[in-house]
Amino acid sequence: MVKVLDKAIGKLETAEGLDRPSYMLGKAISRTGQIVGRPGKKIANTLHGRGYGHPVHPILVTIPIGTWTLALGLDLLGSAGLLRNRASEQAADLALQAGSIGAVAAMATGLADWQSMNGRDRRVGLVHGSVNATALGLNLLSSALRSRGRRGAGIWASASAFACMGIGGYLGGHMVYRRRTGVDHADRSPEPREFVQVAKLGELTEKVPFRVAVWDEVARKEIGVVLVRQGERVHALGARCTHAGGPLDQGWVLDGKLVCPWHGSSFDLQTGEPVTGPGTCPQPRYQVRLQGGAIYIRREQEPGDHVVTSASLAHVRDVASFEEPDEWQPETRTHQPGKKGTDVLYEHHELMRRMFKKMRATSGHGAERHELMRTLAAELDIHEVIEDAIFYPAVQPVSEDTEIAYAEHGVLADLLAATVKLPLGGPEFEEHLVALESAFLHHAGSEERSMFREAERLTDERLRDLGEQLETMLERERTSRFRQAFRTLKLTLLENA
Ligand code: FES
Ligand SMILES: [Fe+2]
Ligand SMILES: [Fe+2]
Repeated sequence: MVKVLDKAIGKLETAEGLDRPSYMLGKAISRTGQIVGRPGKKIANTLHGRGYGHPVHPILVTIPIGTWTLALGLDLLGSAGLLRNRASEQAADLALQAGSIGAVAAMATGLADWQSMNGRDRRVGLVHGSVNATALGLNLLSSALRSRGRRGAGIWASASAFACMGIGGYLGGHMVYRRRTGVDHADRSPEPREFVQVAKLGELTEKVPFRVAVWDEVARKEIGVVLVRQGERVHALGARCTHAGGPLDQGWVLDGKLVCPWHGSSFDLQTGEPVTGPGTCPQPRYQVRLQGGAIYIRREQEPGDHVVTSASLAHVRDVASFEEPDEWQPETRTHQPGKKGTDVLYEHHELMRRMFKKMRATSGHGAERHELMRTLAAELDIHEVIEDAIFYPAVQPVSEDTEIAYAEHGVLADLLAATVKLPLGGPEFEEHLVALESAFLHHAGSEERSMFREAERLTDERLRDLGEQLETMLERERTSRFRQAFRTLKLTLLENA
């Protein structure tokens, strides 16, 4: 099914015949905008969603989708004889009309966004808009027929409109989720976290964008940054335009704003906020420091970013020293230090590595192997529980790895559940066991290589405290009758599902 749809959309994307009408329509819209001048620009900005933070078109389309679906549902119930009264007919007609008003607003915003699309996206966008315009036309016809008492014909017209809307919606989904139109195209790398020198002030010409690059080790790529000198001040913004990835370093400065050469979005040099669309979200910003004729920049992290910087590490250390001052808890200083949390977890990883090895070294479906598999499943489960409850929250302020680690725990749990469901020793079971081991080795390995090292940024004392907590919980999970019974029940349910 997906292949057929992809093929059909591929045909649209290469249909050069669509370029001429697209060019003519685009020209007509931009000419009108040019004649209207400044108010036209303001209207276009509003239609794009500037000031809102992202395009408004996706929100407005929910109005016709919701109301036209409601109308179709009521019509179907009425036609089937399940709901036939005047009130439900009136509700269907009203929903149809409300949807048509929403569709006009959605079309206006869609048309504004479409104006700044290129190539294959522009072609698909034209068909998407045309199909949805047809849906609107059919629904207007339906409303007219209904008001003249021709309800049956009106229902046929709105049902056809619904089918058009489905096609239009699918094309819209393709444009956003496959082709990434309307999404943020800027590089939102956290680098550089600390001030780094990127250029000399003398290299910059007044108001001429200048490109520099910083390295992002995680993304394994260079991140472009554009510098603009204004007198003795230098501004720094991400060089890839948020709208569609245009090169802002090849743009120009006009009226104190940096203009993108591709579709003319302009950005405030100081705040990175879009001043004119089609861009709707702000450019990444960098703090600038001038020292001895050199320019240093540091990425200004955004709200919600989980980025470990020297400032956040200093904060963690401050909190640690505030919580456990020497004079308040002298006995904790003298007590024999236990294992670090990372050592406890590493030992547990090793235990499970050995268990996987043993499972692979044996075959068949004997009772001993079954018991070993059950113990391995229990240990995997316990490991996830203690890390989720104690280690990950503790290490979160000093490591950026926890988000993906939580996700990998989910993958491991799913894979474990799928494995224990299979008949022990069968080919499917063995294949799943290999996959489960690979998933575990990847996960444990990446924890040891990265997260455990970053955990060293916590104080030694904190790590030993975590070790104690982890060992206590590990012991409790293994010995508590209640926990054991719960785990056995879970496994039995999974095995027999
Ligand atoms: S890429 Fe479209 S305005 Fe920059
Ligand atoms: Fe883990
Ligand atoms: Fe682990």
